[in-house]
Amino acid sequence: MKPRVFVTREIPDNGLKILKSHCQVKVWPDRLPPTPEELRVEVTNVEGLLCLLTDEIDAELMAQAPHLKVISNYAVGYDNIDVAAAKSRGITITHTPGVLTDTTADFAFALLLAVARRVIEGDRATRSGEWLAWEPTFLLGKEVHRATLGIVGLGRIGRAVLRRAQGFGMRVLYHDRQRDYELEGKADLTYVSLSDLMQQSDFVSIHVPLTDATYHLLAQPEFEQMKQGAILINTSRGEVVDEDALVDALNKGRLGGAGLDVYSEEPLPLEHPLQGFDNVILAPHLGSATVRTRRAMAEIAANDLVSVLKGTAPCHPVKEGG
Ligand code: DGY
Repeated sequence: MKPRVFVTREIPDNGLKILKSHCQVKVWPDRLPPTPEELRVEVTNVEGLLCLLTDEIDAELMAQAPHLKVISNYAVGYDNIDVAAAKSRGITITHTPGVLTDTTADFAFALLLAVARRVIEGDRATRSGEWLAWEPTFLLGKEVHRATLGIVGLGRIGRAVLRRAQGFGMRVLYHDRQRDYELEGKADLTYVSLSDLMQQSDFVSIHVPLTDATYHLLAQPEFEQMKQGAILINTSRGEVVDEDALVDALNKGRLGGAGLDVYSEEPLPLEHPLQGFDNVILAPHLGSATVRTRRAMAEIAANDLVSVLKGTAPCHPVKEGG
């Protein structure tokens, strides 16, 4: 009998095809994720779970899934999963690193350029009739070329953002838990403390995973250190930023703007104060959202899940705590 697998949302068909050729597959049919209660019912008899970052996979849920052998997360980030609980139950976790690196870096840069050059405000002005004539001082932005970019977290995506910044002739600073001496030797890249990075950067782009150590990594003290008029870009996880402190810094005019793709609460509530700033671009968690990348993620997530169920090693296991 084929192993049973639950998929918490419709994913690209190439992934489902792989799963269906090896497993009995049930896919959650709605656009909205299953509630925790619905998910608990669905996992009762399954050996494999393919889930999304919107699904909280905690110890309580795992306790309802006595047959569960593998949790395949359709994302590179896996802060939605209790890794220690999975480890204690012998459940393998897999994720989708690598394939979305350049795609997410492209999006971080798209936000950076769009905030700096006021692209969305320009679009609104064109559509609303606010654009009266070419004017010497209309919607002036901030220059990106030769500006200083501070990269917080020089992992795969941070390094891909560095490559883009080099094309724009930017001076690049970075901060990370550990220094990359080799890359520093090859690229025009300077390691600084977080505090120096905040003080010297015209743009700050966040590329750290969400962990206990990075929760609210950027909060009031960091925003107070930022250069007047600097721009924040976040395509990592919302909770890395203390959003109340960000709102305060925007209200005080300390920040020149922000480009955000991720939030503590997703979707960002319509009444959230961040919705009120013209100099903030709010994207709906689109970092990896291209056809090719989402298909590649589906293929990896499905293949790794099947590998574990067949008793072979997956290509992209989550090693942390495991
Ligand atoms: C991830 O993979 O962690 C992104 O946030 C969604 O692709």
